[in-house]
Amino acid sequence: MATAEQGIKQARYEAFCQAYPTYATTTRLDKLRRTDFARLDDTGQVYLDYTGGGLYPASLIADHAALLQGAVFGNPHSINPTSQRSTQHVEAARQAVLEFFRADPKEYAVIFTPNASGALRLVGEAYPFGAESQFLQLADNHNSVNGLREFAQARGAETRAVINRPNLHIDEQALRAALADRPAGASLFAYPAQSNFTGVQHALDWIETAHEFGWDVVLDAAAFVPTNRLDLSRHHPDFVPLSFYKMFGWPTGVGCLLARHEALAKLRRPWFAGGTIWAVSVQAGWHVMADGSDAFEDGTVNYLCLPAIPLGLRYLDQAGRDAIHERVMCLTGWLLRELTAQHHTNGRPLVQIYGPHTTAGRGATVAFNFLDPAGRIVDERIVDQAAAAANISLRTGCFCNPGSGEVAFDLAPDKLAAGYENGRRVGFDRYLEVIGLQSAGAVRVSLGLASTFTDVAHFLDFAIATFLDQPQDRSTLPPRQRC
Ligand SMILES: Cc1ncc(COP(=O)(O)O)c(C=O)c1O
Repeated sequence: MATAEQGIKQARYEAFCQAYPTYATTTRLDKLRRTDFARLDDTGQVYLDYTGGGLYPASLIADHAALLQGAVFGNPHSINPTSQRSTQHVEAARQAVLEFFRADPKEYAVIFTPNASGALRLVGEAYPFGAESQFLQLADNHNSVNGLREFAQARGAETRAVINRPNLHIDEQALRAALADRPAGASLFAYPAQSNFTGVQHALDWIETAHEFGWDVVLDAAAFVPTNRLDLSRHHPDFVPLSFYKMFGWPTGVGCLLARHEALAKLRRPWFAGGTIWAVSVQAGWHVMADGSDAFEDGTVNYLCLPAIPLGLRYLDQAGRDAIHERVMCLTGWLLRELTAQHHTNGRPLVQIYGPHTTAGRGATVAFNFLDPAGRIVDERIVDQAAAAANISLRTGCFCNPGSGEVAFDLAPDKLAAGYENGRRVGFDRYLEVIGLQSAGAVRVSLGLASTFTDVAHFLDFAIATFLDQPQDRSTLPPRQRC
């Protein structure tokens, strides 16, 4: 017989399904949750950090293990049979990536890297920046994109950031003006398809606009592709970095750079390594790089993990890419609605959301802070401790995206400059004090492949029970380590 509590849960689920009727089209994912992701419920974990890392399906690990156990794989780049086998799998992985993103092999190459950051580094260190160049970026970027500015500056190029205002969206006028102001030399524009901080999705049409003004474009797709389709037959960014563990959780240590052949031809590698050269003479001191993507894969590729890539991509296709997208957007809509509906007894809101309050123009990553009844931001360490005690995996901080943090917290450049006292590293608490932050960043909840209604319901119950009408106790907080 159903208990009263089960009845309430059922009524809540039914109300959710009524408000988000398309969720019903995604219930096949509940089956995967019970099989491939059973370990979540078996161990009582509520995983809400998919933008940090995806979760691997158990069957993907089993399929990959069976593949490795059923054959002998040698180092590729040779004609011996075990080497040939590895080469076949590496090339099959390349082909699978092209097909998954509908990228024409005549237009795009796939370069395997350790992760999205490795892909970005390949571009930054080899892009022909010079005194007549510019590196233009949105402030809303991961540090692995922000870091490209160091390559640009080292070669005398100008660097600029367009601030994502209002409400953490692109300032269209400012961006258009910046794009129109391209210097004469090779210039690179970088932006994320989806912010890893706010979940805001920046329009892919900016790729074409930037091309019209003569820019090469880096589209950081790392946070976008786990739950959204990227169609490279429709949009044509020059460089697309991504990490596969964010898409299907396994393997870590493998990402790729999808690069247009035309753009790749502009890059000048600062060194050569095993696997990247056609020939080298030690005594005569010359080297000739290999053709195309081969010139960018340093040393031995991850040939034992790469066979998992076609398996993982096929898994997403079979689970249903549209179903995954639909599901996480229904859950995000409900999460936003329920969080913003909560108010302390004195009428003050429970949360402050950074970025859009609805699902329009965003993905399934939500950044916010809890507010106490006095309207003060709840210290992120209190949130971390309480969430950990409840077996909830979420993330706090600026998520390696300081630009969006600066906009979200309305930090003026003069304050930020003061945080870097005479170029010295100051203590982290001192840094927060100088720049005027009440907490070291935001709270981030992100959804993905294995997310369910129950995960979000669990988090909402936790949020209400822990923070609604509760004053914050800062007396026992551990010291902060770093940003
Ligand atoms: C938008 C975005 N770009 C780049 C990265 C860097 O990815 P990786 O750490 O796998 O290199 C991340 C990681 O969270 C990200 O979210």
